[in-house]
Amino acid sequence: MPSLESPSVAAQLAVATKDTASHVLIELGQRSYPIAIGSGLLANPATFANLPKADAALIVTNTCVGPLYAQALQNALQSHYRQIHTVVLPDGETHKNWQTLNLIFDALLENACDRKTVLFALGGGVVGDMTGFAAASFMRGVPFVQVPTTLLAQVDSSVGGKTGINHPLGKNMVGAFYQPHRVVCDLDVLKTLPARELSAGLAEVIKYGPIADLAFLDWIEQQMPALRNFDASALAYAVRRCCEIKAQVVASDEREAGLRAILNFGHTFGHAIEAGMGYGAWLHGEAVGCGMVMAADLSQRLGLVDAAFVARLRRIVVAAGLPVKAPVLDAHDNAGRYLALMQLDKKAQAGEIIFVLLDGPGKPVMRPVPEALVRAVIAAACA
Ligand code: NAD
Ligand code: GLY
Repeated sequence: MPSLESPSVAAQLAVATKDTASHVLIELGQRSYPIAIGSGLLANPATFANLPKADAALIVTNTCVGPLYAQALQNALQSHYRQIHTVVLPDGETHKNWQTLNLIFDALLENACDRKTVLFALGGGVVGDMTGFAAASFMRGVPFVQVPTTLLAQVDSSVGGKTGINHPLGKNMVGAFYQPHRVVCDLDVLKTLPARELSAGLAEVIKYGPIADLAFLDWIEQQMPALRNFDASALAYAVRRCCEIKAQVVASDEREAGLRAILNFGHTFGHAIEAGMGYGAWLHGEAVGCGMVMAADLSQRLGLVDAAFVARLRRIVVAAGLPVKAPVLDAHDNAGRYLALMQLDKKAQAGEIIFVLLDGPGKPVMRPVPEALVRAVIAAACA
């Protein structure tokens, strides 16, 4: 059977948007798809050419992003679909749950959408993860397109097909691997991003340095003022390089049998912070930034990296405008609370927590760690 979104479709997209976009291909055989990165993409009908044929499209967005960009997207989709519906979700990580997910199914069913309907996720990682999960499960699977509008979503969450929702006991605990048909990173939309959200996105940008590309880490360090100043060419390079690295990792381990877990550097501590503080109190990127410093500290305590590298990573995280002092989750048994939350991590095996560590800069490894060392890291980070 021919692929619905083959590399030749990626090539056609490249031609259609050649003046305004560059392209990164996620190579997954029949499920390969392009990431278009550039300016003016959201409002350009050519960006959305050659997607699976359908009568209807559903734009999924939220109360913050919808008023800014839903009309432009709707106009761009007009020549491709006879009917375009929109559902506007409440905004924020606290709403990444079953109740909000159900609003997407309500909209699909109330509008008599069929199994060809294409979903468009217009928003940050929260909208993207929930739309992807809805697409994976509505009528057992409909096509979807990621139109990420935060830096974090453009460099990470929109790429690679992890979709899902949170459970009160654990982050992203319910979901599916389900690849989009296309990812559209319009760099112009980053101009309206609040500075705190830009910093949160920079945490995931920084992440790719220590796990995969030390030259990129040097570049990030030098370009940090430009990145924080929303410099268009610096952001364009950051989005492209992150997507290239993520494309390579996902292509070699789509369902996280092994290698892909390196993308979770900092996330074991980070997810505990997010769940322990209550979703939304710390932004995902803030928790990941702090978590990366904790994971680097743990690596140092195991003798895997030197103190100078940990200090450097901490400086870069601070320079991105991110917190490095971890929150106290429980006044009576803080380390116990962190450990209990981390035992729910998806990488844990038979209750044993598996950490992504650095066996030297640029060399991620996954392994369990003596509890006393983890307790020491938590105590130091919270002091
Ligand atoms: P988010 O989706 O909550 O967006 C952050 C805030 O910015 C929201 O208030 C949003 O409405 C607003 N916003 C979005 N685009 C805007 C724009 N252009 N202008 C102004 N405001 C805008 O958060 P996020 O940081 O984008 O994503 C975090 C989520 O992504 C978490 O739930 C995390 O678990 C998930 N994530 C998933 C993956 C994955 O592989 N699927 C990877 C990393 C993170
Ligand atoms: N953000 C982690 C992953 O996509 O695997």
